[in-house]
Amino acid sequence: MKLNFFPLVALCATTASSLAFDSFASQPAGANVYSVKDVAELRRIGAHNHPKHHDRRTVTIRHSHNDTDDISADFLWGLRRANHGGRLLLKKGKKYVIGRKLDLTFLDNVEVQLDGELKFTDDVEYWQENNFYYDFQKSISFWRWGGRDVSIFGSGTLNGNGQRWYNEFAGQEILDPDNTYYRPILFVAENATRLSVEGITELNSPCWTNFLVDSKDISFDGVFINAYSTNASAEPKNTDGFDSLRVNGLSVTNSRVDIGDDCFSPKPNTTNIFVQNLWCNNTHGVSMGSIGQYPGVVDIIEHAYIENVTLLNGENGARLKAWAGEGVGLGRINNITYKNIHVENTDYPVVLDSCYFNIAADECAAYPSQVNVTDITFENVYGTSSGAEGDVVAEIICSPNAVCEGIALKDIHVKTPEGQEGIVVCEGVSGGVGVECQAASDSE
Ligand SMILES: *[C@@H]1O[C@H](CO)[C@@H](O)[C@H](O)[C@H]1NC(C)=O
Ligand SMILES: *[C@@H]1O[C@H](CO)[C@@H](O)[C@H](O)[C@H]1NC(C)=O
Ligand SMILES: *[C@@H]1O[C@H](CO)[C@@H](O)[C@H](O)[C@H]1NC(C)=O
Ligand SMILES: *[C@@H]1O[C@H](CO)[C@@H](O)[C@H](O)[C@H]1NC(C)=O
Ligand SMILES: *[C@@H]1O[C@H](CO)[C@@H](O)[C@H](O)[C@H]1NC(C)=O
Ligand SMILES: *[C@@H]1O[C@H](CO)[C@@H](O)[C@H](O)[C@H]1NC(C)=O
Ligand SMILES: *[C@@H]1O[C@H](CO)[C@@H](O)[C@H](O)[C@H]1NC(C)=O
Ligand SMILES: *[C@@H]1O[C@H](CO)[C@@H](O)[C@H](O)[C@H]1NC(C)=O
Repeated sequence: MKLNFFPLVALCATTASSLAFDSFASQPAGANVYSVKDVAELRRIGAHNHPKHHDRRTVTIRHSHNDTDDISADFLWGLRRANHGGRLLLKKGKKYVIGRKLDLTFLDNVEVQLDGELKFTDDVEYWQENNFYYDFQKSISFWRWGGRDVSIFGSGTLNGNGQRWYNEFAGQEILDPDNTYYRPILFVAENATRLSVEGITELNSPCWTNFLVDSKDISFDGVFINAYSTNASAEPKNTDGFDSLRVNGLSVTNSRVDIGDDCFSPKPNTTNIFVQNLWCNNTHGVSMGSIGQYPGVVDIIEHAYIENVTLLNGENGARLKAWAGEGVGLGRINNITYKNIHVENTDYPVVLDSCYFNIAADECAAYPSQVNVTDITFENVYGTSSGAEGDVVAEIICSPNAVCEGIALKDIHVKTPEGQEGIVVCEGVSGGVGVECQAASDSE
């Protein structure tokens, strides 16, 4: 049984540019609403008997015919219609193109079954004029998701359509004060409580892939993140897998990330972090931070448990990073456990960098980091380094201007590419690191 099906109503075409229409007044052409009792129809459309999700009232919308056929008004209508107990289904084999910025912070008990492809337009001019802006590292986003009890799941793809952004950003730096070429983050949750993302692929984000802000209990399970370019002189840049700001409760499990920047890197005021069974290829590692960037601001990252991570072909394995230099901030990284970390072809398998970001040794010495680093365990880190740092496989350099204690390295069995047992370097750690280590100056 189909409810409210009025095939001739096509009012959304006139309202698509503003997205300010009354979402209940008109059902867009091609949309359907199926009752939870209509099992035969739910089965037919692929929304019946999902292993982890009970059947729900299910909404479908029309799909796009090409990469500029914007269905964002239909999508917004569909989410509003599915809100409060229902599900929006994006069907397998169909493409849904989003060409307008969307504020999705009204959500309350809703599911999105993404089996098809949700793809953004690459209308750079439009997105640079229309986005959600975050002061933190000058980020923008296409949309933002918020509210409570939101579940996005399925076998489909969220496609950032990043190629044009990669081409046009090539050669620039995100943190360059003169950079005005802002690129959108693929997925942003803001002011969300209990939001989960399961099973989907997140492809070719123009910038960071996921950014969670002012939220609580966010989880990702079974997600695959990938960004690649078809243009050898314009690689994807800053496509971090997971970033967060002011989040309590962040879990990433059973996921794979193949991008050229941080695999997982919670940022200021992220607490209660859980990572298990994560695979990272070509990344900058699983990093706590960077924190302590902005003057006068206290940044905190604490209570993280990170277990069974495989890191291949990357710059870092397990990393902590804190800003130093003139006019930076302060904070603490506390109670972090990294356990069962497998690295291969990795430059710095274990690293505490207290001189972030790209600053000269003399500037770091003149303005050391004010981020305390306490109760950090690296346990059972194994595999092979890349040899980029000679025989050094772990480097813990503390700031002379902050507390640095309770740091334990246990069972570090990382070999160099030549098969030598790797060297641990440390400096300024109160109480040592539990294993023999060389001063930084001796290993140069
Ligand atoms: C894309 O599809 C829409 C809707 O069918 C159509 O109006 C438009 O002309 C198409 N654009 C291109 C470039 O094919
Ligand atoms: C955050 O979401 C809650 C409901 O979940 C709402 O009451 C509150 O106004 C929102 N806060 C902001 C700053 O948007
Ligand atoms: C590849 O990227 C370079 C650097 O931005 C750019 O000049 C060139 O036009 C791009 N090539 C294509 C085919 O887009
Ligand atoms: C560790 O994670 C990998 C995926 O990276 C998974 O295949 C493996 O089963 C996990 N190991 C355990 C003991 O859970
Ligand atoms: C990991 O990345 C390398 C490039 O550095 C690539 O050749 C390889 O196929 C990737 N591994 C997998 C399993 O995707
Ligand atoms: C983090 O929390 C501290 C202490 O509550 C607060 O002073 C600081 O402003 C927060 N930092 C950010 C970036 O929100
Ligand atoms: C350290 O963090 C873990 C979560 O990873 C938490 O269960 C534990 O209570 C924390 N320990 C302290 C002393 O806060
Ligand atoms: C860093 O440690 C010092 C000395 O114990 C303490 O006074 C300060 O509050 C700590 N900073 C943070 C952000 O926890």
